[in-house]
Amino acid sequence: MTQQSNGVLLSVKDLVVSYGAIRALHGISFEVGEGEVVTLIGANGAGKSTTLNAVSGLVRPSGGEIRFLGRRIDGKPGHAIVRLGLTQVPEGRRPFLGMTVRENLQLGAFNRPKSEISETMDRVFKSFPRLKERLGQTAGTLSGGELQMLAMARGLMARPRLMMLDEPSMGLSPILVQEIFSIISEINRQGTSILLVEQNAYMALRVAHRVYVLETGEVVLSGTAAELRESPRVKSAYLGE
Ligand SMILES: Nc1ncnc2c1ncn2[C@@H]1O[C@H](COP(=O)(O)OP(=O)(O)O)[C@@H](O)[C@H]1O
Ligand SMILES: [Mg+2]
Repeated sequence: MTQQSNGVLLSVKDLVVSYGAIRALHGISFEVGEGEVVTLIGANGAGKSTTLNAVSGLVRPSGGEIRFLGRRIDGKPGHAIVRLGLTQVPEGRRPFLGMTVRENLQLGAFNRPKSEISETMDRVFKSFPRLKERLGQTAGTLSGGELQMLAMARGLMARPRLMMLDEPSMGLSPILVQEIFSIISEINRQGTSILLVEQNAYMALRVAHRVYVLETGEVVLSGTAAELRESPRVKSAYLGE
């Protein structure tokens, strides 16, 4: 059954995920609209990666519904979901370290016609000019920040309508964190919607339009970023104020 999407790109309803006897998500619901940056913030173990992995088809939900552009995608294989326009940049930056930057970017475009690849690469280099200088370099020789950029650039090579980013700032120096977040805003301004998962609530609240707070597998608060920046609970638990 399809449903009108009405500007809603991703709609997750009552999502339940269990790992054996451990229930990681207890029926969470959230949406990402066309053009939005939405962030899920939460502590380590809250269920953020599980949520993204369920949406991208890496983990099978045991309950609920996931719709992309109005169509059910839960239960579909990951490559089919990428073809619909939804790409995940996983936690921990995982480009293929033995391959060059160019080869990694080409792999990111597996769902697209070959004739389009060089044009897409040129577009991606506008956000990541540093990668252009390193096309022939092996990914394993890149710095941490450059690897994160490559992981994001590879995701963009699929030309997603919605890109999901799992903790892109993890382990990076403060200056690189600033740079990564400004690139995220820039990618969004160029038309890609973003679902961002972060432990760095301070930065996530600065780039996002809307926010969901995840605690032990449940959404406990949601609202605009401006609203949540003023929430006493968010201030004390996530912003250290
Ligand atoms: N593959 C797995 N097998 C068993 N438990 C898991 C697995 N992945 C995650 N979990 C558990 O699910 C919960 C949520 O984990 P996760 O989604 O990784 O949280 P976050 O990304 O917010 O840190 C945690 O209790 C974690 O230990
Ligand atoms: Mg995680």
